[in-house]
Amino acid sequence: MATIRDVAELAKVSTATVSRVINSNGYVNDETKKRVKEAIEQLNYLPNGVARSLFKGRSQMIALFVPDITNPFFPELARAVEDVTNQYGYTFVLCNTDNDNDKQMDYLSALQQKSVDGFIMVSSSMTGEHLQHIQVPIVALDRIISPDMSSVTVNNRSGSRQAVQYLKSVGCTRIAHIAGPEHVDNAVYRMRGYLDEVKDEDWFNSSYVVSGAYNFDAARKAAMNLLTRHPEIDGIFAGNDLMGAGVLNAAASLGKKVPDDLAVIGFDGITMGETVTPALTTMAQPIYEIGKSAAEILINQIGTSDSGVVTEEFNVQLIERQSTLRKAETYEQ
Ligand code: RIB
Repeated sequence: MATIRDVAELAKVSTATVSRVINSNGYVNDETKKRVKEAIEQLNYLPNGVARSLFKGRSQMIALFVPDITNPFFPELARAVEDVTNQYGYTFVLCNTDNDNDKQMDYLSALQQKSVDGFIMVSSSMTGEHLQHIQVPIVALDRIISPDMSSVTVNNRSGSRQAVQYLKSVGCTRIAHIAGPEHVDNAVYRMRGYLDEVKDEDWFNSSYVVSGAYNFDAARKAAMNLLTRHPEIDGIFAGNDLMGAGVLNAAASLGKKVPDDLAVIGFDGITMGETVTPALTTMAQPIYEIGKSAAEILINQIGTSDSGVVTEEFNVQLIERQSTLRKAETYEQ
């Protein structure tokens, strides 16, 4: 039986274009539309999505909610979700929510009226109660929403322990942490991982933990203040790469050499980490893989009406760059 990919190949278009022609949503020029329709007829293709959408009134649409589209982590995540949903013939919808519950509820009701097939949500404010009325599958991505909901995350706490162990291994003796927002579960797990590694050190001081709100500006200000009050700090673990970049900027403003005076490690592995100076060492999340996994779990739940809870946890990986490497050389000497 012909698939959407066969139609796309014959018509020399993407599966997303075939999906747009079938569902009459989104622009397709007439010549392309004609080619696709001819390919559908020639292959006798009956999109099971069409049968499903006719039968169940579904739209062949999947929506991804992200809390902050200005943070480069989320566009990289969205790329993976879009690729996979398109491959399966779904139209992809991206919703930027500011982690605002009213905005998320508005998106949920508008998209349910459009008979969306399922949701993938990055949210630290929605709970299982907020979502109990949703009739289609939901997968939580990056942050847990409810233990009764499928989720895809990373090893935030053990990955953060590894970051601090690494700073110690390159010679840091006073290590601080720039934490993400306390209402975001993975920020709390990362802070706990940091505390696991330092709370019993005789040098540890609770003022070594400051909040950077997962953004550049707040982290820069927090690092300026922290390093001014505590010039003895020679290592900083930032809870995400954007805050790591803020720390680098603060160190430069204070005339601190990185990594000789101060080693800095982030978390996420966003592409921007390669472009800052010095390039940022990080605990890299497998961003594409977690997005892909969430999309595959959701599509399987849509297709099979399987309501079982699937929990995937991926491991972060240390990527060494110049914001710590020189320290390593110094240490080895
Ligand atoms: O940088 C944005 C942060 O929010 C990332 O660490 C990601 O895990 C998300 O939760």
